[in-house]
Amino acid sequence: MRTERLLPDQMGMARAALLLAAGQVVAIPTETVYGLAGDARSGTAVAAIYAAKGRPSFNPLIVHVPDLAAARAIADLTPEAEMLAAAFWPGALTMVLPLRADAGIASLVTAGLSTVAIRVPAHPVAQALLRLTGPLAAPSANASGRISPSSADHVLDPDGGLDGRIAAVLDAGPCPVGLESTIVGWPSGRATLLRPGGVPAEAIADRLGHALADHQADPSAPNAPGQLTSHYAPNAALRLNAADPLPGETHLAFGAPGPFSLSDSGDLAQAAARLFDTLRRADREGRPIAVAPIPDHGLGAAINDRLRRAAAPRDQVFSVAEIPRGES
Ligand code: TXA
Ligand code: MG
Repeated sequence: MRTERLLPDQMGMARAALLLAAGQVVAIPTETVYGLAGDARSGTAVAAIYAAKGRPSFNPLIVHVPDLAAARAIADLTPEAEMLAAAFWPGALTMVLPLRADAGIASLVTAGLSTVAIRVPAHPVAQALLRLTGPLAAPSANASGRISPSSADHVLDPDGGLDGRIAAVLDAGPCPVGLESTIVGWPSGRATLLRPGGVPAEAIADRLGHALADHQADPSAPNAPGQLTSHYAPNAALRLNAADPLPGETHLAFGAPGPFSLSDSGDLAQAAARLFDTLRRADREGRPIAVAPIPDHGLGAAINDRLRRAAAPRDQVFSVAEIPRGES
């Protein structure tokens, strides 16, 4: 299959909508990362997403909708969910909520769970497309286990990208946030951080008026992306909290200028936006990578989460509980 690169104009979006209506998968921009989108109401379209990613298991996917009304047609929003929707949608927040019986979502999207992960993206191209298509299921548009794509070039990367495996990519340039959405759920009734991401956990806790539970502390909670399983993996070995590089290492710096600087000024939002691109460029140097310490507050918590996964052992033995949601 030849992968079309579409401009994010009316013609490009109409073409993307046509392909999606025909059950094809199309990589689309969101403010977090590029998503590999398919019609969430079509089981065959959703199966094609898994096939294109080479995902070994049927991980549940995030459903993207254009607005709160569309979200309410798919999921039951509890009072706390309504509060977070009002504060952070459209935006980089995904909520795991009870799936409505009349939602019309293919069961493959939720992997048969009674909950659905749902998000209203803020990116204007995603917004415009969703108004043409209806709900789109979309995981990050990377091959399973590889670094998530924060540009269309990443989606089509000859090394491990999806060129030739998907119908099209809607190219709107780099993603402004650059890290996946924050995932919040209520697995045991309490608001729980299932994955740190583009909305800082502190901002969510502020809005709720109480801290988020940590799903790592609650073994009964269905986990979102697997704990310390290898994920977001570059080809090179990765060493964390490295104030200085060892001889032969490529150094990803934070708060200092350099060719592999995440942010010269130490700005966490800029570091988040550059993280995946900088990791990919460092990987192409073909040497081990050392990353300077990153502060662990705000977006730094999400950056450190991705770095820990990228550095995790590649051939780890997983516990049964971790297998289904290990890779995304
Ligand atoms: O920013 C993002 O979230 C991007 C863009 C494209 O929206 N998407 C993304 O999707 O990162 P993905 O598939 O790579 O990660 C979604 C995560 C998975 O780890 C999955 O396990 C979790 O969401 N998830 C989905 N449905 C769930 C559910 N019902 N319960 C618990 N976790 C769920
Ligand atoms: Mg992913």
